[in-house]
Amino acid sequence: MKHYKLSLSPIDLGIVKLKNKIVFSPISLNMAKKNGEITDNIINFFSNIAKNNVGLIIVGNACVSNIGKGAANEIVVGKDFHFKKLAELCKSIKNEGSKACLQIAHMGAQGNTKYTGERVVGPSKYIVPDIGIESEVLTIDEIKEIEEEYFKAIVQADNAGFDLIEIMTAHGYLIHQFLSEHTNKREDEYGGSQINRLRFLKNIIEKVKKHIDTSKLSAKVTGNDFLPKGLNFKKIKFLIDFLDSYKFAYYQVTAGIYETAKQKYIHMKKGSYWDYAKELKKFTKTPVMAQGGIISLNEGENILKEKKGDFWGMGQALIADPQIITKTINEKESEIYNCLAHIKVGSCHRCRYLKQKDKDFACITPGSWSPDLTNKVNAIKRNKNLADWKKIISNLKQVEN
Ligand SMILES: Cc1cc2nc3c(=O)[nH]c(=O)nc-3n(C[C@H](O)[C@H](O)[C@H](O)COP(=O)(O)O)c2cc1C
Ligand code: SF4
Repeated sequence: MKHYKLSLSPIDLGIVKLKNKIVFSPISLNMAKKNGEITDNIINFFSNIAKNNVGLIIVGNACVSNIGKGAANEIVVGKDFHFKKLAELCKSIKNEGSKACLQIAHMGAQGNTKYTGERVVGPSKYIVPDIGIESEVLTIDEIKEIEEEYFKAIVQADNAGFDLIEIMTAHGYLIHQFLSEHTNKREDEYGGSQINRLRFLKNIIEKVKKHIDTSKLSAKVTGNDFLPKGLNFKKIKFLIDFLDSYKFAYYQVTAGIYETAKQKYIHMKKGSYWDYAKELKKFTKTPVMAQGGIISLNEGENILKEKKGDFWGMGQALIADPQIITKTINEKESEIYNCLAHIKVGSCHRCRYLKQKDKDFACITPGSWSPDLTNKVNAIKRNKNLADWKKIISNLKQVEN
């Protein structure tokens, strides 16, 4: 039996200690109510993962307002009526033995009126090629309002009991849009110099600091957005130095924005994200989480051995089989349902794109969690047979080779 000593031992993130170094990466399900309220499906999905030897669960894309959503049914937090279900979600994760983190986001110019019914806004005019809607430029008053919404969302997450609160500064969402010269062409105090492009985030954290210990905060940062005027692991040093000054708990490293989605997946498959994490570790003492394309406990363990990260995150492999870690620990690897996207680039990503088509979350593997889709037209028929699933995987592997 392999011991996976590094992955299965605790890690200290300052204010919180994880029982192991395995994280469920932030995932958004598009299964909230239209007003952003969390549903039982969302609670069941995350608590089901929490049952399976994962040290930290990060709930993805809790948006600060309806206008901040990227899909019709994303979670919204910050208003009083959001609190009850948010606290229930947090408790259900913690009751299963994982620590709980909520990721706070605003899609900004990557929003889509077609699905949200809301305006699309950003620091400057910008069009996501695949969406084709030009963003409206935010006024200073509107920016201040969004800073206040972030503040309320973060304080509510803290009150709801989350151990950590992750600020999304990557994937081309609003904070990324302010930080990057590719999307921020403003000539006022929110654009131009590095310090000005940081102002939006700084104002949020300064507000939060008066109410919450900022060592409860963490960030998802970009190691590369693949744009000449954009951000990469060298250019974000100013961001990391800034966040370090508030004693952030950890950083996780990702890549890409909507416009560069193709490069994103190719680089993920090559393991480039882990290299970005390794580079980031050179200029911060804050723990760095490697993620993106990790398919097994063994692969996560090797990342730790090679010091490419201090702990690691897994998303799709845990969606495809929530028991992947448990089965590996129990030496039942042959029973694992593997995710198709990790076998061949472009072969699936169905879970990811359903929400962009205004459909409920679903994964096609027989081993995945099944939402209650009673009365829903897009319920997926699953083939429950493991041998059949392995045949599909094996065929895809041949195509890839
Ligand atoms: C269905 C789905 C939803 C996702 N939602 C989010 C999200 O809300 N926030 C985020 O930062 N990343 C999100 N991601 C990206 C994952 O957190 C992760 O970075 C990515 O899937 C790569 O890791 P993996 O190969 O282990 O899945 C999502 C991915 C998927 C598949
Ligand atoms: S839907 Fe496809 S890409 Fe998503 S987790 Fe399942 S197998 Fe992987």
